[in-house]
Amino acid sequence: MLSEDTCFLNHGSFGATPITILEEQTRLRSIIECDPVRFFERDYIALMHSSIRRLAEFMNAEPEGMVFVKNTTEGVNTVLRSLELIPGDEIIVTNHSYQACWNAVDFVTKRAGAKTVVVDIPFRVENDEEVLDLVMSAVTERTVLALIDTVTSATGLRMPFEKLVDSLQKGDVDVLLDAAHGPGIVPLDLREIDAAYCTGNCHKWLCTPKGSGFLHIRTDRKKMVRPLSISHGASFEGTDQEKFEFEFGWPGTQDPTPWLCIPLAIDFLEGLVEGGWPAIMERNRSLALEGRRILCEALGTTEPVPDSLVSSIASVEMPGEGEVGPMSIEGDPYHNYLLDEFGIQVPVFPWRHHSRRYIRISAQLYNSIEEYEFLAECLKQSL
Ligand SMILES: Cc1ncc(COP(=O)(O)O)c(C=O)c1O
Repeated sequence: MLSEDTCFLNHGSFGATPITILEEQTRLRSIIECDPVRFFERDYIALMHSSIRRLAEFMNAEPEGMVFVKNTTEGVNTVLRSLELIPGDEIIVTNHSYQACWNAVDFVTKRAGAKTVVVDIPFRVENDEEVLDLVMSAVTERTVLALIDTVTSATGLRMPFEKLVDSLQKGDVDVLLDAAHGPGIVPLDLREIDAAYCTGNCHKWLCTPKGSGFLHIRTDRKKMVRPLSISHGASFEGTDQEKFEFEFGWPGTQDPTPWLCIPLAIDFLEGLVEGGWPAIMERNRSLALEGRRILCEALGTTEPVPDSLVSSIASVEMPGEGEVGPMSIEGDPYHNYLLDEFGIQVPVFPWRHHSRRYIRISAQLYNSIEEYEFLAECLKQSL
């Protein structure tokens, strides 16, 4: 449903949902509204489980450890606010971390007299090892958790998250993997990665309706994590697994249709490109790399990170250094200028942690190379 008048280069922020999936959501909503009581009593739990199974299969995850949340912010908060921190404990974030999730870390560390340890990683990095060394050098005997992104938001860096999880957890530091940009943008094998916690969004790169996040908890950590909303599940009598599923599956009355559209979204997108999901990810990544090259040329700069650290989003520094303002809900003035003047929807992030502003492109199946060329022309005209 994206407007014909907009050159939409920001799939990364909120995704965009194909009409077929939206129609499925409408169909499900009609079923609910025919008899909401009947739906929630008889159909909901089975449908939710089949959605969970399909998503778990897609990411090779343990279905019994997988629950739905509204979004990654909720998943991150769920884990962090379940931790029993004691004064002096340390949680690692990087200075590429998504600010909302970083805020949640600050909230729980401050409350407990614990400490947020921020790993400074420059925007321009040479390779995986540089990132790995910086993160590992921040680990101390007080580190209890590290929040690691699969792909960072403002800086668009495809983190070497598989290696990071492996090294951190070998050193007894649990990892909370922020896979907001996860399923559908990078290959994910959650059994192989084996992070203590992984939370992410389907509404970005699986193109499901907004409000479809997941949280995967490793078996040995399931008892410790409770949902943000304590609800009927807390007094539910059944096996530990039934209770776990019910506590997360019934956070109170809400619209479950974003979760229930996940199986169709996986199958529908898979059928759009020969070669399925691996081909979709490769096609989008190639387009993002080519778009980044065009953008760098227009801005008179070089590609900031090696291709191996790029997925289907890519960021480049905006010209100029100095004071960088805070992020605001209204968006950076130059982002607004590109939208109002040229109809280009592309984010410009003021990133105080690096004292830089980044322009970030996304590449999804509906994008074409001409759109990045158009952006480049507009940048040349206006900067
Ligand atoms: C790395 C990262 N983490 C977390 C989030 C939060 O996602 P949501 O707003 O769906 O909770 C985002 C959103 O862009 C993100 O890029």
